[in-house]
Amino acid sequence: MNKAENPALDALLARIDRQRVPKHVAIIMDGNGRWAQSKGEERIVGHSNGVRSVREALTGATEVGVQYLTLYAFSTENWNRPRAEVDALMDLLVRTMASELEELMANGVRLNAIGDLESLPKSCHDTLMESMRATAGNTRITLTLALSYSSRWELLRMVKRIAADVRDGRTSVQEIDEAMVDRHLTTYGMPEPELLIRTSGEQRISNFLLWQIAYAELHFSPVLWPDFDKATLFNAILDFQNRERRFGLISEQVNP
Ligand code: IPE
Ligand code: IPE
Ligand code: MG
Repeated sequence: MNKAENPALDALLARIDRQRVPKHVAIIMDGNGRWAQSKGEERIVGHSNGVRSVREALTGATEVGVQYLTLYAFSTENWNRPRAEVDALMDLLVRTMASELEELMANGVRLNAIGDLESLPKSCHDTLMESMRATAGNTRITLTLALSYSSRWELLRMVKRIAADVRDGRTSVQEIDEAMVDRHLTTYGMPEPELLIRTSGEQRISNFLLWQIAYAELHFSPVLWPDFDKATLFNAILDFQNRERRFGLISEQVNP
């Protein structure tokens, strides 16, 4: 549907203050299984239908000027799901990355990934690396997929790397500060997410970006991921714009 045919979406879009769009939006895409099961389908049908929602999130974010979109696609804990579901998800990832590459190029999307990427099946790992290489020069928006990611995995990795640097004399305990921690996280170089959205009505973080979301605004939507569309995103951004972000100060200090 083109813009002229969707006045409700246009009206939402018009209400967004373009000067205060979050630079980085992170999304916990949840509810695929329940969406499918409510239709009497296998869980994987929900995952396949979630691809359309990824497109909606990406085009919506690009349209309003979000510069970084980070999607939690597969957690460390998700490896423990039934084998058939894990295999189907990995297969879906490979096929989607291959089929969407042209679209990513056309829209100036740079693909990035965080997580224990070495643990992905070879076909998935290789396709991912190839798509990242192909899109490396794009600058409109950075789409980061969190794959085999968990925040505790990332934090442990950071602690071990800093400990090794201290042991080998490359740094000292006194020099450890927030900036050094940041440099050892997989998100190094990205601004912190200002808005974190979780779909499906669950109100938890499930091991996602614990350090990075210290001051993010949290938006919980009841929408199941396959039903997520641009309107859901725009409503979350409007909700974000209605919050007062105080960062520990008092209202009069942030609104002099
Ligand atoms: C999110 O949907 C996708 C992944 C975690 C891979 P779920 O598969 O968790 O769907 P629900 O939460 O069981 O409905
Ligand atoms: C979080 O969803 C992980 C992803 C969206 C990839 P889960 O469905 O795995 O989280 P829990 O089990 O409800 O906490
Ligand atoms: Mg879930």
